[in-house]
Amino acid sequence: MRTWTLANMPDQTGRTAVITGATSGLGLAVAHALSARGARVIMAVRNIAKAEALRPQFPGADLAIHKLDTSDLDSVSSFAADLESRGDQVDVLINNAGIGNQPHAVSAQGHELHLATNHLGHFLLTALLLPNLANGKDPRVVTVASFMYKLGHFDFDNLHLTRGYNSGRAYSNSKLANVLFATELDRRLRATNSPVQSMLTHPGIARTPMISSAPGPILSRLTGSIAGLLGRPATQAALPINYAATAPEAPAGQMLSPGKTLRKTQVTQEPLRAKGFTPEAATTLWTHSENLTNAPYPTPQTP
Ligand SMILES: NC(=O)c1ccc[n+]([C@@H]2O[C@H](COP(=O)([O-])OP(=O)(O)OC[C@H]3O[C@@H](n4cnc5c(N)ncnc54)[C@H](OP(=O)(O)O)[C@@H]3O)[C@@H](O)[C@H]2O)c1
Repeated sequence: MRTWTLANMPDQTGRTAVITGATSGLGLAVAHALSARGARVIMAVRNIAKAEALRPQFPGADLAIHKLDTSDLDSVSSFAADLESRGDQVDVLINNAGIGNQPHAVSAQGHELHLATNHLGHFLLTALLLPNLANGKDPRVVTVASFMYKLGHFDFDNLHLTRGYNSGRAYSNSKLANVLFATELDRRLRATNSPVQSMLTHPGIARTPMISSAPGPILSRLTGSIAGLLGRPATQAALPINYAATAPEAPAGQMLSPGKTLRKTQVTQEPLRAKGFTPEAATTLWTHSENLTNAPYPTPQTP
């Protein structure tokens, strides 16, 4: 357990962060924190008008806003291609955008929407930005998971939950996918001596629109009450993300969270334990994700 606040964040001048889902909740809180310490922030968002309306909250900041719908692999590819053609250097990628507890739907490519939005889009985005990140200053990929990963479990014959769809299972599986992805990425980056680090975080329960606007009056009242009692404001819940993105001592490949108590200054490293968190699940999900996205990850060397 570490005591860490935004006052401990090193100067971020000269670093650029791409933040997915920066228009709300945790992503917006991280955009504020990083830009306040001098980072250039690229808001990667599905709703440009919503992001532009937030611009006055960032007076004097170096802020760029670009279109990215993480549920649509074509949008992810266009975002990455545009970034390269502008010659933007990226030092930190924050894979944060997410949806939860939505009725069954599929993405533009026909993938279950939670998996597509929360995992597959970020899987492809990371692969496309890795060569750029490798030239970055203290380069990091930060994945925002959830403790709900513990309830996730993949049946790879039913990856898109076409049989027995349940919105809670869809969210938990997508967050398990985040955990399997970030830890497998860490393993692969270390194996190739990459300068890029894969960081993994969860925010606990955060009082953000995702929690307060769950679909349906009963679910939204329930989640709203839980968040009111046990939740943290977004700025506080985002602390592990900011820590993972900037603290020199932050460990890669470990779950960083705000801990169980509601202390404001705490970042905790939690053991990774869940039925669905196995090395076999990590490699199988990686293969499925590569096949579904055509993400250009380097082929690992066989010893
Ligand atoms: N809140 C919690 O208690 C909690 C707990 C554990 C983990 N998390 C994780 O934290 C992350 C952020 O959630 P939050 O609580 O900050 O929720 P939020 O306030 O609802 O923010 C979600 C963000 O993701 C964006 N987004 C959704 N679908 C997208 C898409 N297809 N393409 C691009 N952006 C998209 C949203 O954009 P719009 O503004 O356009 O809707 C918004 O900016 C998520 O990954 C979530 O799973 C949250």
